[in-house]
Amino acid sequence: MNKMTVRDIEVSDKRVLVRVDFNVPLDEKTGAITDDSRIRATLPTINYLIDRGARVILCSHLGRPEGKVVEKLRLVPVAQRLSQILGQQVGVTTNCIGSEAGKSVKSLKSGEVLLLENLRFHSAEEMDSTLFARALARLADIYVNDAFGTSHRSHASIVRVAEYLPSVAGLLLEKELKTLGSILENPAHPFGELIGGAKVSDKVGMLENIMGKVDYLLIGGGMAATFLKAKSYEIGLSLIETDRLDTALGLMQTAARNGVHLLLPVDVAVADELSSKAKVKVVSVENISPHQRIVDIGPQTIKNFYQELRRCKTVFWNGPMGIYEIPQFAEGTKAIAKLLSSLKATTVIGGGSTAEVVTDMGLANKMTFVSTGGGATLKFLGGKALPGVEVLLNKKTQ
Ligand code: 3PG
Ligand code: MG
Repeated sequence: MNKMTVRDIEVSDKRVLVRVDFNVPLDEKTGAITDDSRIRATLPTINYLIDRGARVILCSHLGRPEGKVVEKLRLVPVAQRLSQILGQQVGVTTNCIGSEAGKSVKSLKSGEVLLLENLRFHSAEEMDSTLFARALARLADIYVNDAFGTSHRSHASIVRVAEYLPSVAGLLLEKELKTLGSILENPAHPFGELIGGAKVSDKVGMLENIMGKVDYLLIGGGMAATFLKAKSYEIGLSLIETDRLDTALGLMQTAARNGVHLLLPVDVAVADELSSKAKVKVVSVENISPHQRIVDIGPQTIKNFYQELRRCKTVFWNGPMGIYEIPQFAEGTKAIAKLLSSLKATTVIGGGSTAEVVTDMGLANKMTFVSTGGGATLKFLGGKALPGVEVLLNKKTQ
């Protein structure tokens, strides 16, 4: 990585504004944090700064409040969780800019940590406003981007703020870029990609970019229906992207041209309705009836995928294999997660929901790396520069 990091800059006693991605999943009813991985993932940077006596000012978004104060998207529970994990009090402001934030920063001592309120309570954040970026920048001496998961967004706290402060990468951002960069540039072969989730359109850029690099491409999840339809299978009521059938065909042709072994499901779990009461049946892909929808991959498909995955030295997985939220449609995803955790390969998990599955199953520490990025990971693996990385200072050449 040619970007400067917190290690390359004097932080002692400095006011350091750290953009983190504390956009954690919350329980719909209770509002409790259901997965704190994104908070834990920033500990190396936060501890690094505390240990060196920096005055740490964290800022993040949570959810999509669209420029308004939404009470249930306040960062108080996040600050509480971070306080517990750090074993030191993390204060939280009621507004990320303005006089109260200024006062809180002023009283911050070396080694103390403050969290600014949800950035997206101001529409100026997503509008990449110069004024807003300057208001944030005024609070600090140095800017650190550790929000890998948001680095694909050209928002004020991600890109614009870097115009006003010396700006470097945090340790999580560095680790993400190194790990994902190495699977993109020099993966150990055979290299397998296992892709699921609902939409082909979200993944086309990534799939096109990795075509010349992977040996195996295994496709499951909702998006498999579009590929099956493109191959003229009856897919019943399964949701597909009709405007992506050509894309799917094109991808299959590119795979064949590049010698990529592309596998689609040979059997699937189908149901008449998308509910936990639905009856689930496993059928071969030739036998899907018009009133059924695909909800998961089937056991023979899992076996076929395993045959290829066990040969791999590197595996990247993004996207559930079925509708994971409904327990009886989660079997395929669970089987795949277990299988990956047992491989001797380098296993990299990308993406919000895939990372949540792995964490939920207690398998995160059995994988080589679980990325904190969803959209950011896809964009990066699609070969695109991330705006939040571009703006950081380059390493000085000797
Ligand atoms: C994410 O979870 O995808 C990141 O935190 C970015 O959030 P966004 O998709 O709402 O921009
Ligand atoms: Mg997102």
